[in-house]
Amino acid sequence: MNFLQLVEQRCSVRQYSDTPVSAEQIDYLLACMRLAPSAVNLQPWHFYVVQSEEAKARLRQCYHREWFASAPLYIIGCIRHDQEWVRRRDQKPHGDIDIAIATEHLCLAATELGLGTCWVCNFDAALCHDLFQMDAQEEPAVLIPIGHPAPEVKPASKERKPLTDIITTC
Ligand SMILES: Cc1cc2nc3c(=O)[nH]c(=O)nc-3n(C[C@H](O)[C@H](O)[C@H](O)COP(=O)(O)O)c2cc1C
Repeated sequence: MNFLQLVEQRCSVRQYSDTPVSAEQIDYLLACMRLAPSAVNLQPWHFYVVQSEEAKARLRQCYHREWFASAPLYIIGCIRHDQEWVRRRDQKPHGDIDIAIATEHLCLAATELGLGTCWVCNFDAALCHDLFQMDAQEEPAVLIPIGHPAPEVKPASKERKPLTDIITTC
């Protein structure tokens, strides 16, 4: 599978089967995530691998969707605001960009393994921060459910703007 085929195959999966994600698969996903680039290589992130029944029940309180509860595993991607690069000339923080790159490494690696994922940012971040007793400098930015797509999941069509709308060649 070349890279274009991989990115074509990745899609938001919103229903998972009961089949667990193996420890070897989790190790592979985390290895791919860890190698993401970041501004000044500061790696301003922290990830929670949510796999116990107790922790999954806690996380599900932060995003109430039936499909979300079907996932056998979740990653919480957090920005470490005390570690992120801030561009000096205009004070722009870059933790958001860094966490997004690492998270997408994870999602693409999962696709390669035949696993499904879905970015979730529309969750209760304050509640998540409390329920996982996170450090004050840590911001939960994204939840990624991971699992084997349920048999009824069909690949969604990729509706994207045409290149002519998004590219300026100069
Ligand atoms: C930053 C970000 C936040 C997202 N948040 C949510 C979310 O809270 N809930 C959800 O169901 N999907 C969420 N999505 C998934 C998008 O809806 C999805 O990626 C988009 O519609 C394109 O579809 P595809 O992923 O199948 O290609 C999010 C995606 C991104 C990149």
